[in-house]
Amino acid sequence: MYSEANFKSKLIHWFDENQRQMPWRETTNPYYIWLSEVMLQQTQVNTVREYYLKFINRFPTISDLSKAEEDEVLKYWEGLGYYSRARNFHTAVKDVDENHAATVPRDPEIFKKLKGVGPYTQAAVMSIAFDQPLATVDGNVFRVWSRLNNDNRDTKLQSTRKAYEIELSPYVQSQSGTFNQAMMELGALVCTPKNPLCLFCPVQQHCEAFEQGTVSELPVKSKKIKKKNVKQHVYIIKNLNDEVLIEKRKAKLLNNMWEFPMYEATASEGINQALNIDIPISTTPIKHLKHQFTHLTWDIDVFEAKTAVDHTKTELPEEMTWMKMTDKEMYNFPVSMTKIYEFIKKQF
Ligand code: ADE
Repeated sequence: MYSEANFKSKLIHWFDENQRQMPWRETTNPYYIWLSEVMLQQTQVNTVREYYLKFINRFPTISDLSKAEEDEVLKYWEGLGYYSRARNFHTAVKDVDENHAATVPRDPEIFKKLKGVGPYTQAAVMSIAFDQPLATVDGNVFRVWSRLNNDNRDTKLQSTRKAYEIELSPYVQSQSGTFNQAMMELGALVCTPKNPLCLFCPVQQHCEAFEQGTVSELPVKSKKIKKKNVKQHVYIIKNLNDEVLIEKRKAKLLNNMWEFPMYEATASEGINQALNIDIPISTTPIKHLKHQFTHLTWDIDVFEAKTAVDHTKTELPEEMTWMKMTDKEMYNFPVSMTKIYEFIKKQF
């Protein structure tokens, strides 16, 4: 085992000199730090930057966000994906506003009880905002730490995460926020999944995998569970006013977001049953696309109605409405639907 202090000081020195500028690194506001960590969880730094700035500009304080409608919050998240992050964050911030005097709790145990706060978010926010002694273990840290220790335990196992948290705990007894961010930054910039820059690594002398020549074999991740593939049919229905039919989702996935009416290809009911009229639909799809979620792929065929519907005669189910193509910004659309929108826009 190498000297802890020596390793840590080299890492932090490297971080001081090489870290990327990020707007959330220029604040000490725990609410902003929390927001950034939630946004960063499944999304690249460069994408998050712009969303983060717009979000804090519109909801500058906990009470501003607490007062907002969920639809508006989702609008500011549109395109980032993983919308339950936004819903949970909104719920948690309302909880903080109402039950914690609009102040982010400093106690990690209290913070962890908030909606959507798992071990990563707890450690990240508590260490960066309040220097609490908790180690963040994300994908970057798994990679860096497994290589430093030439450790081939399966990083998909909860037991490995727990072990890493404990092994890292001596390093986070002080300057935990800086240490954690330095580990993640090293993983993002130097100790990368492919072609890591070992020759420029500030802690190369401490790296057992470098010494043993096993860097490219680590970290070990057990095979991913195969994603479920769901075939979907999407229908583009226009009316005589050149408006298009959209529907608010009831399913848990992307709940309350808008879509062009979509049915699983195997479903017995379709758009004709929903509207209770017979609309002639093109037999060949006008577009095909795939959209990936964490556990699921949508394999989407888009069809269109051959004729426009007389909207004055068709009674719409509660969750459907006609949308002017120029009004898209008034609705929350997931990325898959925005892609379809961009495609059909050319034809209107
Ligand atoms: N990834 C997620 N949060 C991060 C942070 N604060 N610093 C570096 N990488 C991160």
